[in-house]
Amino acid sequence: MKNVRFTVQSNLSLTASVYEMRLAGDTAGILPGQFVNVQVPGFYLRRPISVCGCEAGVLTLVYKTVGHGTEAMARMQPGDTPDLLTGLGNGYDLSKAGNTPLLIGGGVGVPPLYYTAKKLLEQGVKPKVILGFNTKAEIFYEAEFRALGCDVTVPTADGSHGVKGFVTDALPELYTYFYACGPKPMLKALCARTATDGQLSLEERMGCGFGACMGCSCRTVTGYKRICRDGPVLRKEEILWKD
Ligand SMILES: Cc1cc2nc3c(=O)[nH]c(=O)nc-3n(C[C@H](O)[C@H](O)[C@H](O)COP(=O)(O)OP(=O)(O)OC[C@H]3O[C@@H](n4cnc5c(N)ncnc54)[C@H](O)[C@@H]3O)c2cc1C
Ligand code: FES
Repeated sequence: MKNVRFTVQSNLSLTASVYEMRLAGDTAGILPGQFVNVQVPGFYLRRPISVCGCEAGVLTLVYKTVGHGTEAMARMQPGDTPDLLTGLGNGYDLSKAGNTPLLIGGGVGVPPLYYTAKKLLEQGVKPKVILGFNTKAEIFYEAEFRALGCDVTVPTADGSHGVKGFVTDALPELYTYFYACGPKPMLKALCARTATDGQLSLEERMGCGFGACMGCSCRTVTGYKRICRDGPVLRKEEILWKD
């Protein structure tokens, strides 16, 4: 974990409630599937946001405004210098990917998969990608994934774009492994539908974000785990789904 001050370069809306923030600072060693904890001025608790992109000293975060903290983030301007804790969480283990891994993102679960796709491509592995959204107006990053050369499917729940349905309705027949991030009902349905192994990034309410407060503890088949430190990525077979 590092405590780094970044400088906002841009903070642009992608949809009515989703923003992309680019920040310049020390990005060395940040892994796909890890998250940063953003100190938002005026708020005691930091806000955890997944790493969407990370290259040459520029960090990209994509976040949805859901409450006062993320609304304050959306008001940040180029030149602002937020304090971030970086390198948090375990990240995805890309050594398991095989030849044709599948990346599955739902809504604001999409961002960490973009950095994951880039890292897989750097390893010479081209992933298939499914990005699920409720409706066309909520779609973001489809063009960015296509620009990487990935095979991209974008189902929407209301059928306003792509296949009508959920990510589980768009699963290809063959894939060697999967990496997923999204709302818990989506992740649970995915695990029920696929026989293939994979890893899932879970989102829990967090306190400290680095393992000290136990506020994010979650029961797994191998005992309690702190999602901020032992996760946020867990293997499919580790997760105990609650009804
Ligand atoms: C490891 C991790 C990675 C995340 N990555 C992203 C990301 O890349 N992009 C993104 O948009 N969001 C992400 N989140 C969720 C983000 O942290 C919350 O939306 C944010 O902290 C809400 O702050 P707020 O002050 O705006 O809302 P609050 O006023 O604190 O809450 C508003 C609403 O959001 C819900 N909420 C708050 N925090 C969380 C949380 N941690 N998980 C789920 N629901 C929450 C609350 O229950 C409430 O309904 C991530 C969360 C975690 C734990
Ligand atoms: S948020 Fe404090 S231990 Fe995870």
